[in-house]
Amino acid sequence: MKVTMTVNGKSMSGEAEGRTLLSSFLREELGLTGTHVGCDTSQCGACTVHVDGRQVKACTMFAAEAEGTDVTTIEGMANADGSLNTIQQAFQDYHGLQCGFCTPGMVMAASSLLEQNPKPSETEIREHLHGNICRCTGYHNIVKAIMAASGQDVPAVAAE
Ligand code: FES
Ligand code: FES
Repeated sequence: MKVTMTVNGKSMSGEAEGRTLLSSFLREELGLTGTHVGCDTSQCGACTVHVDGRQVKACTMFAAEAEGTDVTTIEGMANADGSLNTIQQAFQDYHGLQCGFCTPGMVMAASSLLEQNPKPSETEIREHLHGNICRCTGYHNIVKAIMAASGQDVPAVAAE
């Protein structure tokens, strides 16, 4: 079937079977490979996108369910001039990534958090990231990056 949605502000269409996951559709039909797939079982959060403004793991949704929705992926996060947005820049500045596999999902999750809660505490950041797994950083620098992106003082050593 043909599936059409708005992705990063543009109308996009592609072919999907009933069982095609939104994560696969974005990557394989639309070529938006910034949405990563680390598990396909709703655990790692690497596939996190926004659908109609809500944070969603794209492997938990069928592409057909996203018909007519407004989807934002990591490719839509940079500033209009192509420079990194505030959250992306903070991840770079505070070394919030190593291999980078989890990073698109982390940035999408962080963005959703800051929309709901512009000045989250360290505890609130950690709670919000429960659904996003990082195997490299130990999370401390990710938390620092999000604190910085929200304009708050960055703790010298983030607590567990
Ligand atoms: S690929 Fe979707 S949660 Fe891991
Ligand atoms: S930076 Fe490697 S998994 Fe997070």
